[in-house]
Amino acid sequence: MRVAILVSGRGSNMAALIDAAKEPGFPAEIVAVISNRPTAGALDIAAGAGIATAVVDHKKFPSREAFDEALDAELRGHRPDIICMAGFMRLLTPGFISKWEGRMLNIHPALLPSFKGLDTHARALEAGVRLHGCTVHLVTAEMDAGPIVAQAAAPVLDGDDEAALAARVLKAEHKLYVHALKAWADAAPGSRETAWSGTGRSK
Ligand code: GRF
Repeated sequence: MRVAILVSGRGSNMAALIDAAKEPGFPAEIVAVISNRPTAGALDIAAGAGIATAVVDHKKFPSREAFDEALDAELRGHRPDIICMAGFMRLLTPGFISKWEGRMLNIHPALLPSFKGLDTHARALEAGVRLHGCTVHLVTAEMDAGPIVAQAAAPVLDGDDEAALAARVLKAEHKLYVHALKAWADAAPGSRETAWSGTGRSK
């Protein structure tokens, strides 16, 4: 199973996936890391691990559609079976998403459907929740609203500030994303979409 990873920044989730995929017997291979930001630290980590990297700089395109077309072309060149977004900070157009729907995962630093969007840890502290965490979900046109694939909880502890909570959740993210990608790759091809699209679950 060929995996392309989309990043914008630091790349710790990407690094967790790369490390896991190096283990003998892991059912997926990371074939490319693509960033929309030329300065993303993730690019150096990926290159250091011997993985093909590319930059599709959103600032060089006149519209979201033009950027998404270039991203789509770059992705296709690597022939991925699945795309993992890992700290990829661009909203994609419905046109792009429809081409890859069902084959695109994202990790979000909150227990969806709570705290969609940015600043999730600050908002969790503000709301006073005692349980926080992270979610791997399929990407659909509506932001952070696609079918949930896997979740991990992290407690909010007395005295937590944003940084302490973010660090605890990030540790959980790294494990969760590896687990979710492995589960996807291990599942029988015909059963992935139904197992993960919410059909067959009691609602
Ligand atoms: C992670 O918390 C991820 O959930 C969010 O952005 C952050 C990216 O961190 N979407 P990293 O680049 O994987 O270190």
